[in-house]
Amino acid sequence: MLLPVLCGGCAALAAVLYALYCWIIPALVQYNGTVALLWHDVFVERMLDTFTRSTRPQRMLKAVQKNATRGDPLSVISAIDRFCRHSEWAMNVGDEKGTILDSVVSEVNPAMALELGTYCGYSTVRIARLLPPGARLVTLEFNGDYAAIARQVIEWAGLEDMVQLVEGASGDWIPRMKEHFGVKTFDFIFLDHWKDRYLPDIKLLEECGLLRKGTVVLADNVICPGTPDYLEYIRNSPSYESNYFRSHLEYTKAEDGLEKSVYVG
Ligand SMILES: C[S@@+](CC[C@H](N)C(=O)[O-])C[C@H]1O[C@@H](n2cnc3c(N)ncnc32)[C@H](O)[C@@H]1O
Repeated sequence: MLLPVLCGGCAALAAVLYALYCWIIPALVQYNGTVALLWHDVFVERMLDTFTRSTRPQRMLKAVQKNATRGDPLSVISAIDRFCRHSEWAMNVGDEKGTILDSVVSEVNPAMALELGTYCGYSTVRIARLLPPGARLVTLEFNGDYAAIARQVIEWAGLEDMVQLVEGASGDWIPRMKEHFGVKTFDFIFLDHWKDRYLPDIKLLEECGLLRKGTVVLADNVICPGTPDYLEYIRNSPSYESNYFRSHLEYTKAEDGLEKSVYVG
């Protein structure tokens, strides 16, 4: 008598936990960026890493290898977006803000581009596929495991010839850009690394003479997680003309946006 009741109770509890994990919490966190980041980036990621004995970037790479066509950047982008919308959230710029990124890159048509924060190479592929012939994109990533995955994603997209992925911290590499890569100035810069580095790194890029009149700096996540010190600086500095593009935190409905700033000297 007791056993069937116990089994029934356990099954009901399992069903409630399953519904909470798969539907109820994900639906709730759609609208709150901070909660979304905590849920997806801390709780779910750690749990899946433990259960699957793999990392999120490894799982994302598998999705690319399974669902994207070699040499077809768009299929790589779609495979990652599908993975992030239907399997596991990840901190790529994402499809919605990605279309804003695409239009800014296309408008600037940069010969020399810089990205700070590669992660798994999603935005790298988005940017590199739009570059004109002969152009170069330098992308920096200080996490060696992420960089190793990004290399494979970029190769899968067939874009390795135009991308230089550098493993290291922005603060160390920015001062060495001219000497190491023969760069004079960048035409386009995408800021998408840790948010407390946006302000020191834009100042470092200025000091190192890597900006020219007309350089376009596009900064992701200026609302969520947010970069208040960077926004305060870039919007009030006479050296920039700045505009906000309202959007949503990747793969959610919480507000986030991109700040596009043109360096005017
Ligand atoms: C939001 S993710 C980048 C997402 C990527 N741009 C995309 O949209 O696909 C931020 C990445 O920046 C890297 N990162 C953070 N601070 C960095 C720094 N100071 N130098 C180099 N990489 C950094 C992190 O390891 C992380 O992989």
